Formats: sequence, structure tokens, C-alpha cells
Amino acid sequence: MILDELPDDLGERVVALRALVAHHNERYHAEDAPEIPDADFDSLVAELRRLEADHPELADAQSPAQSVGAAPSSLFSPVTHAIRMLSLDNAFDDEEIRAWADRLARALGRDDVADLRFSVEPKVDGVAMSLTYVDGVLAQAATRGDGVTGEDVTANVATIRSVPDRLDDRRGPLPALLEVRGEVYLPSEDFALMNERLESSGAKTFVNPRNAAAGSLRQKDPAITATRPLAILTYQVGRIEGAPEGSALLASSHTAVLAAMADVGLPVSPDATCVTGIDEVIARSHELEAHRHDLSYEIDGVVIKLDDLALRDEAGTTSRAPRWALARKLPPEERTTTLVDIEVSIGRTGRATPYAVLEPVFVGGSTVTFATLHNQDQVALKDVRPGDTVIVHKAGDVIPEVVGPVVAKGRRRPAPWSFPTACPACGGALVRLEEESDTYCVNLDCAAQRDQRLSHFASRSAMDIEGLGEKVVERLTTAGLVADVADLYEIDAGRLAELEGMGELSAANLLGSIDASRAQPLSRLLVGLGIRHLGPIGARQVARSLGSLEALRAASVDELAAVDQIGPIIAESVVAFLVNPANQVVLDRLVALGLTTQEPMAVANGDGPGPLDGRIIVVTGAVSGFTRDGAQAAVEAAGGKATGSVSKKTWCVVVGEAPGASKITKAESLGIPMVSSEHFAELLATGELPDA
Ligand code: IVH
Repeated sequence: MILDELPDDLGERVVALRALVAHHNERYHAEDAPEIPDADFDSLVAELRRLEADHPELADAQSPAQSVGAAPSSLFSPVTHAIRMLSLDNAFDDEEIRAWADRLARALGRDDVADLRFSVEPKVDGVAMSLTYVDGVLAQAATRGDGVTGEDVTANVATIRSVPDRLDDRRGPLPALLEVRGEVYLPSEDFALMNERLESSGAKTFVNPRNAAAGSLRQKDPAITATRPLAILTYQVGRIEGAPEGSALLASSHTAVLAAMADVGLPVSPDATCVTGIDEVIARSHELEAHRHDLSYEIDGVVIKLDDLALRDEAGTTSRAPRWALARKLPPEERTTTLVDIEVSIGRTGRATPYAVLEPVFVGGSTVTFATLHNQDQVALKDVRPGDTVIVHKAGDVIPEVVGPVVAKGRRRPAPWSFPTACPACGGALVRLEEESDTYCVNLDCAAQRDQRLSHFASRSAMDIEGLGEKVVERLTTAGLVADVADLYEIDAGRLAELEGMGELSAANLLGSIDASRAQPLSRLLVGLGIRHLGPIGARQVARSLGSLEALRAASVDELAAVDQIGPIIAESVVAFLVNPANQVVLDRLVALGLTTQEPMAVANGDGPGPLDGRIIVVTGAVSGFTRDGAQAAVEAAGGKATGSVSKKTWCVVVGEAPGASKITKAESLGIPMVSSEHFAELLATGELPDA
């Protein structure tokens, strides 16, 4: 989750959060192309609001936490809303609903809300819309925009079948002006059909119904909008002027107003119900949640509103949301789809993992096509078979998972699936050892394994080589440019630039990130090598305790097993890896190619003040086991500051091979201590200057 990657320092965190919220707000509202799930966006906003509330000294009127939606685009003329279009505060569980009810009671000067009526409604996942009828005729349709100014999308909205051009006056005269608010959406089934149509015509598809609705509304040509099966549900009167006396639209309760809106022909949700007290509110919202898939449209929550309009006025609003309403956001959903097939992927260790190929299904905020099935036993346990209808959900709200089949009584099932006996990549045997749950491709030359090993080496937790993802790896190996991790550091720049889809700039960038990865500390190199059983924590322990690759290669199983948190199984696995002749060749090459073979202590120690805290250090000349950047990174990692020029503030100069003469002279003239590079590791570890 993005929150984990934000700085801990309060001020920096708030600044970073504001930038992130502003960015994703723009992606979501203005570009209809979100990059992160809505739930993640909500937690960013929630965290920002929490920090701003807890630390008023950091408040900023311009903070994106205070505003709603996005400013209107220049494609449509701006419309100023006579009454601001507000957003809703969110609750993620029952407790938060109760806390909201307590706040509401306080705002109303009551002990509780036990005898108050509330409307509980589906929160349609679409685009907020304001419709203005003048003398019963549709005069204007506007998006919410930033709440104050929206976009005039009248021509587009007029093409929506369920938006009446003219209100029904058979039950009585209409107000001179009626502004209603609602949500334009795309029914789930129509969304799927529309995407299919777009795809077969080669056009871009939409990631979800909400974006599809937004994108369809934002067409310059209303004729295109007209081909999109949009619909609307209205849920509120915004402005009403010149209403005849006794007009039902002026009723004193929300429920009565909704009925009056339906009477003039405006579509309102048949699923809004009015209940009393917060227990009933919670029960009803659970009921709606349980039936969310019976609705013809996607919902992203349930809206709870105080029914009595006079009490609403009393409760008032904050700058962005009314106190009298609340959105209860729903947890990740489950959906059913067809299990098209079960395939097997081969990992870097040769492990064969079965995964589900699904009829694409929109679940938990994104379209899911693949889901892991973990291993053979899991497939058997879940008893899922190609051809089955299966339930899919997002485990932990991120990873798509097949829950199990939906088996209709009396229906014949497809044949059970059996694990393949040959590797789908190399055709070699797939072997499952007794008492193991996993099956392996045991051919070390298997191309799938090789590619996975390379991708793992480049991954974030290992050497962190930007731009070297699975696809690029595959291109490199297919072209014969790379076969093992050492080859990465010897890629021919010319041949790389000639690769399809590469070009000179991307090639230079990739080579740059590969080059920079030489500076990664030993622990990351060990992670990257993908030694069985050795995870990032074990790798750190080993690297920290032995200090260098050289020492590690000389260590015995017993010595390794004596390292904190390293048991005999890991120790044996590490030694087995290191003594393997093929691995030795690669390691020797990596060393010769200038990769860092040392572990700076502070990297291993994790965060917190390092031994060189606040010290300014200049490194000049080559330090063995480090690249130039690597040595500087090691100083920084130990809490120090690495600079390029010697000054009065310099604490010491580390002198390697072929040092810069001017730096030595300057250090001498200023009386700054000089440390030979042999003592560099010690300096990093202890923060103390070695005895002269
Ligand atoms: S009432 C001042 N009722 O959810 C409160 N909003 O996250 C006005 N929405 O801007 C909103 N279904 O676009 C309300 N039944 C419903 C809704 C609903 C969907 C949307 C609406 C609003 C957003 C807030």
C-alpha cells in the first residue's frame, strides 16, 4: 500500500500526501483513468484528513483534502452551481457509522438518534449530475466539477433515454425552476457489452463502469454519447423556485420528495428505504450490501441520509460534506465468472504454479482475467474445473482469488482437471516430491526459469533495476543478449538499441539503471541471486554478519548456521549455492564486473541514526568492493553525508586508489584526517576514525 512508502516525518508526509491526493484526484475525476483502486485513494485522503485535523499547524486552505472532484476541463463551458455540490464523508465499518450518528446527535443537541428517520440508499457508482428544468423542460445538465463549477454537458445528457426532456405535469403544475441531482451510470451488463464492442472495433476499452460513464459523457460529439447505454438515477432536489403552493416537491421529508420526483417522471432508486434509528440503518445497509449484485448497476457503497429536511438544515454542512449524510463504503466484492482454463506457470526455482484463466470480470475495482490457484492440492480442494462458473474475489483487496465453483444442483460438471506432467515452457518433466505440496520443472536450462530468475534479480526487493520487467527480460533472452545475471552488465549497447520497441533513449536508460545497480549492497545481491530459503531478512543477517561476499564464500555451513536467524536449512542451501561450479562462474564474473561485494553496516542495521550520523565525508579514488556511487551510498546509509569537495566542514577523507591530488592537498592544508580505504568498512561500522 502506498501509505507505507510515505516519509515518516510529519511535515514531509503531509506534503507528499497532498501531492499524491492531487495527482490521483486528477486521474480519477478529470481524466477518467484511475491508477489505483478507489479504496487506496480513500485511505490516502483519510490519512491526509487525519493528519491535518490532528495538526492544525500544518493546515492549508489549498489542501486537496478540502476540495471535491476536479476543476472543469476546457472541453465544455463552465457552469456555476447555484448551490454547491458537496461530497460525502465515508465510513468503512459499523463502528464508524455509529460514531457519525453520535456526532450528528451532538450537532442536533440530542442524546442520540434513536427516534430519527434515515433513508438508506444504494450509492450508485457513476458520475454526479445536476439537471435543471425550466418550466418542466430540460434546460441544462452539468457535472459536479469541483463542486462550485461544473461542465455543461447538456447536449450529451439529452441523449440519455432515462433523462426526461420534459417533466410530467399530470399530477399538478410544475415549479418554474427545478434543479435535481443524481448519478449517471452505465448498467453492469451494458458495460460488458459496450467494452466487447469497443474491443472488436479496435478502440480502447474502459476499466470499469464508472470510467465508462464518465468517458461517455465527456465526448465532444453527442452522437457518440448517444451510442453509449447510459442511464440516470436522481436522488435529491438541489434548487427549486416558483413552486406552486402545496407542491409535493416541497415536502418536508426526503422520502416524500423522492416520491414526488418519481411522480414528475424522474427515475429514482426503488431500493431507497426509510428506517428508524442507527441499528436499523446498519441492518438495512448490510441487507443492501448482500444484494448488491441483484442490482443492475455497480454500487460502491450505501448512502445514509437524515430524512427530516428541517433537521438537515439544523445539522448543517462542513466545507466539503453535509453532516446529515454519510457514505458507507463497501468491502471488496465477489463476482462470478467462467473458469476458461487452468494453466501452469513456471517460477525461477522451477516451481509450477497453477492459475485460473477467467472470462474477464470486474471485481473489487479492476478487471480480473487471471488468478492464482497456488498448487495442485488447492485446485483439488477447491474442486474447480475448466468450464465451471466460479466465484472470484480480491484477497486482502488486491490479489484476485478463485473462491470456489458455483455448482448448480443436478447439473453435470465438467471433467476434473489434472496437473500436467510436462513443463509448458520446455517440455521437461514436472516432478512432485513426496510430502511436498509443490511441483517442479527440474530442467535447469528451462527458458521460463531463466527469465524468471532474471526478473527476480532486477526486482525491487533485489537489485531494483528500473525498466527491467518481465517483458524486457523476455526480449533480451529471446534475442540472445542475456542468458544469466552477469550478462546484464555486459549488454552490447548497440544491439540493445536495435531491439524491437527499444530505441536509443530507452536503451541508454536501461543501461544506466543496470549500471547503477552495481552499487547495491551485498544483501540485495544475495536476494537477487534467488538462493532457495534465503529471503531478504536472512540475506541481511548473513551479509551483515559476514560483511563481504569473499567472507561469505569462505564460510562453512556451521559458521552460517551460527548467524542470528539463520537455521541449518538456510545455511546448507546458501553453501550449496555458493559451491555450485556454475554459480561460482557467475559470481566471479559479477565481482569482476564491479558489483559491490560489501555490506555497509547501517544498511544491515535498518533505519535510525547510523554510526556516521551528521558526519561529512569525502571519498576519493577507488575503494575496493565499491563503485564510486556505492561508496557514497554506503556513507549515506551509515547516516553520513558524502560530498565531492573537501572543506572545513569535512570530517574525514577516505583515500582509495588513484585519489584526486587536489583533494589530498586541500585536506592536508586544512588538517582534515585521511583514512585509507582498507579502513572504510570499519569506519562505516563504528563511526570512529582508525588509529593513525
Ligand atoms: S447524496 C450532499 N445519494 O456519491 C450529498 N449521493 O461520494 C449529495 N452518489 O457526490 C450526495 N449515489 O455523486 C447521494 N443515493 C445517493 C448517491 C450519491 C451516488 C454519489 C454522488 C456524490 C457521491 C459522494
